Amino acid sequence: MKKVNFFDTTLRDGEQSAGVNLTQKEKLEIAKQLERLGMDVIEAGFPASSKGDLKSVQEIARTVRSSSVTGLARSVQSDIDAAWEALKDGAHPRLHVFIATSPIHRQYKLKMTEDEVIEHAVRSVQYASKYFPTIQWSAEDACRTELPYLAKIVEKVIDAGANVINIPDTVGYITPQEYGKIFEYLKNNVPNIDRVILSAHCHDDLGMAVVNSLSAIEHGAGQVEGTINGIGERAGNAALEEVAVALHIRKDHFQAETNIQFQEIKRTSDLVSKLTGMIVPPNKAVVGKNAFAHESGIHQDGVLKEKTTYEIISPELVGVTTNNLVLGKHSGRHAFRVKLQELGFQLEESVMNQLFHSFKQLSERKKELTEEDLVALVLEEQLKGDEGTYELVSLQVNYGTEGVPTATVTLNDQVGQIIQEAATGNGSVEAIYNTLERCMKQSITLLDYRIQSNSSGRDALAQVYVKVRVDDVETGGRGIAQDVLEASAKAYINAVNRAILMNHTKSKKVQPTL
Ligand code: KIV
Ligand code: ZN
Repeated sequence: MKKVNFFDTTLRDGEQSAGVNLTQKEKLEIAKQLERLGMDVIEAGFPASSKGDLKSVQEIARTVRSSSVTGLARSVQSDIDAAWEALKDGAHPRLHVFIATSPIHRQYKLKMTEDEVIEHAVRSVQYASKYFPTIQWSAEDACRTELPYLAKIVEKVIDAGANVINIPDTVGYITPQEYGKIFEYLKNNVPNIDRVILSAHCHDDLGMAVVNSLSAIEHGAGQVEGTINGIGERAGNAALEEVAVALHIRKDHFQAETNIQFQEIKRTSDLVSKLTGMIVPPNKAVVGKNAFAHESGIHQDGVLKEKTTYEIISPELVGVTTNNLVLGKHSGRHAFRVKLQELGFQLEESVMNQLFHSFKQLSERKKELTEEDLVALVLEEQLKGDEGTYELVSLQVNYGTEGVPTATVTLNDQVGQIIQEAATGNGSVEAIYNTLERCMKQSITLLDYRIQSNSSGRDALAQVYVKVRVDDVETGGRGIAQDVLEASAKAYINAVNRAILMNHTKSKKVQPTL
């Protein structure tokens, strides 16, 4: 059996998904869950892109101990310095430095000759070796690079000190057979290749990211990169939960082992989906709602007689439980605390007290609380309290099939000022959003609105995701409440708060361009 390392880039490549912008607290929560999932490497961000990103990578590096935390850097000293500043306190600091190698990128983006690109790459690795014990070097757009040139630059960066060589399919163009051949070519044509681990990094533009990653593993990759739920720019990255489960279920074929804690997969997928607002399609492999549902009579009959007739992955393997009712109105503080710890939340006493209070209030209205409800309570609590942002104090909506929907909203603007406004709309949600816009005295454009139930049943919590534009800043927001209108208002306020925070920290995403 060979060991395959898992490198998660949900917080870097995944966060580059359109409309996704996570706060520092949310990124830390995801990183802690990725550590529990058994990720070998967590790419926490791109420290040179903004002060906010640097701080959040730093916080993750200081917190996570069993996974190696890394950050992305272009091949320039200032990026490498920023990455070191962010990662130096980590348990196993590692740099991820890249430069584009394909003729298209060399000519149009970098405007550099072949030799100039090699020179930049080598210098950046040499410079990084002064700080970092482990350096991963990536050839951006490797799959559209001439193979002899790719082999040449790989040899040089290994000599300069790189320990991991990543071969990204940046534009999601390659086929599984071709990708495998690139790995074979490098193994056969780079004399010092045995000194490094080869890594696969695939995008899903042609829907082949997972299968390409598996092909790379078959042809010598010792590391695979991707994101949870396959989120990422454009069509996304390889979905790591799918790669992990494929390696496990077809161990006979792949002969590979991983550190993945499979029972944490569903929880990680749910957390990433909730915090990013990127809803998992019901038919998605491994983590989709229908992935284990047998609908047709013939299949149901087969499964009842013998599960393995139609079920190759057991839901329990990936942490899907059918009955996860956990607590109710009579549950005490101790049971509540233990359950949250089991769910992986280490919380300060004051936060725990506040959460217990919210739990008691919710349990008065909702008979049985599930794991999803508890996670929702914690995530909701984390939305509160950033200085200079708005908080909902009260909401009233009048709606009748004959009348004009009207909303009255009271907001706290967090500098102690209470704002109250009322407005109408064509529907209740529009009335609320018109009122909020009036309260906030800003021009806000609603770009997207989605609603989902947090669990099942009539009394399930509602989750609303919105995307808004405030001035030139686009942000997503989420809101959870038992009432759909309250959840709608909270999501909108949350999105505007994120825009305010982004403006304060100037943490608009800078895309890597060198
Ligand atoms: O897809 C890609 O090429 C990347 C690199 C920055 C590694 O994400
Ligand atoms: Zn990528």
